[in-house]
Amino acid sequence: MKRATEILGKRPSEVSLALPQEAATGRMHEPSAAATKETGLPHTQTERVLLYVARTPDETLIAHLKSRGWHVTAARSAHELARLSKPDVVCAGIVDLASFALRDLGGLEASLRQQQIGWIALATSERLTDPGVRRLIRHYCFDYVKIPVAHATIDYLASHAFGMVTLCDTDDIPPAAPAADDEDEMVGTCEAMQQLFRTIRKVANTDASVFISGESGTGKELTALAIHERSPRRKAPFIPINCGAIPHHLLQSELFGYERGAFTGANQRKIGRVEAADGGTLLLDEIGDLPMESQASLLRFLQEGKIERLGGRESIQVDVRIISATHVDLEVAMRDGRFRADLFHRLCVLRVDEPPLRARGKDIEILAHHIMHKFKTDSARKIRGFTPSAIEAMYNYNWPGNVRELINRVRRAIVMAESKLISADDLDLAQFTEQQTMTLSQAREAAEKRAIEAALLRHRHRLNEAATDLNISRVTLYRLMGQHGLRDPSAADEKASLESFAADEPLQE
Ligand SMILES: Nc1ncnc2c1ncn2[C@@H]1O[C@H](COP(=O)(O)OP(=O)(O)OP(=O)(O)O)[C@@H](O)[C@H]1O
Ligand SMILES: [Mg+2]
Repeated sequence: MKRATEILGKRPSEVSLALPQEAATGRMHEPSAAATKETGLPHTQTERVLLYVARTPDETLIAHLKSRGWHVTAARSAHELARLSKPDVVCAGIVDLASFALRDLGGLEASLRQQQIGWIALATSERLTDPGVRRLIRHYCFDYVKIPVAHATIDYLASHAFGMVTLCDTDDIPPAAPAADDEDEMVGTCEAMQQLFRTIRKVANTDASVFISGESGTGKELTALAIHERSPRRKAPFIPINCGAIPHHLLQSELFGYERGAFTGANQRKIGRVEAADGGTLLLDEIGDLPMESQASLLRFLQEGKIERLGGRESIQVDVRIISATHVDLEVAMRDGRFRADLFHRLCVLRVDEPPLRARGKDIEILAHHIMHKFKTDSARKIRGFTPSAIEAMYNYNWPGNVRELINRVRRAIVMAESKLISADDLDLAQFTEQQTMTLSQAREAAEKRAIEAALLRHRHRLNEAATDLNISRVTLYRLMGQHGLRDPSAADEKASLESFAADEPLQE
């Protein structure tokens, strides 16, 4: 099957920016070693440093480069390369893509992504036919040459690449291509995902707070990371904190840190997550679980841009971009007095909505294949794909746990499968296959539910607009939402207003 994945960052996409009043969601990863605030490149660096990575480095090439004034360091593996590349040293890089086994090339990617290294690739004609090799060159290299080639040519190209990186101020260096290790890859071709990608790009360019909303497992954290990696803060840390997972009494010190002696057991100063994110992005995950006490201190920080460590008297200026995420409805939490409205409005300047997996159409199948390719080596069998009824079942199933559930089911199926094709049974979705007969009225019901869900998603649950789209009245939409189990049971006000309105309006659609 053609891999129709869209990897965010490779294909430009658009999306409407949500207005502040509308909702949002998010996830994170560890900052790179280079993720420091002071990343200005050393323009004064005069030494011509060159990193040469090859399974078996060519000693005659090294000798030639040295004779041309290069300070050459050779690495024989991805691991060695990662150890040798220093974020604060600008250098040229030569990567011999022909010398490594194809399966080992992925390991080089993290170092190839380093923006202070100007890479030149060496490859054979045969290697250049491999899509993975072509992608690495396209994304990370200034140039490439087919080997064998004269050493003087390599020297010339390396000088050129070195010159280019020394010319740049770090802030001018174009964003690294998206982190393409599978961990960070966002797959999505449907309109809802294309819209999400467009939003991410737009939102990344600003410093305003972003609120990401979406069901569990939809990719909120991945989205938050994508925003950070495409923002001007990408070289600084991305620090996530799961507000729901940290005991309330520890949250305050996790967020703001403490001074030595602040309380019994505080034997040394601890920097909090907010301070650790200075210059970068702080992801407040599961923000809906933030206790009132921490909400007040967070609001104070957002207003003043300063923190005080527990037990400290010093006010510390911190520059962070805030992304928050939750799967709970914060509007309801505000109505119930569990979440401060003033904090919500600070957090939700821009809003991103994560579409649930069941609303992503064909992407369900594309994602399933993507996951299968990623984990197929977990099985001794050569897994090749899915049976038609497995695909059918995936479309029929509701996916309450979204992408995370899909990953878990496919991984389990890879291990359980007894043939080369994963069956609905392997996915534990046998009861969702079409062998189960469906009456025409059941089919209509299902289609109606899908159409309503899609309209609600498009209009962020604004009933008037969704109803106009569906060409029905708001009251009818509300009634149908009830029939299909799509109402938010906590939206009591909505219910009261619609029910009194419904008494006057004939239900004609
Ligand atoms: N579009 C996507 N393409 C590929 N993988 C994805 C995509 N969306 C999510 N994932 C993967 O699904 C898993 C769940 O994503 P993530 O943790 O970002 O979700 P979440 O919305 O933060 O979930 P929760 O609400 O449970 O915290 C992760 O392994 C992530 O890599
Ligand atoms: Mg999450």
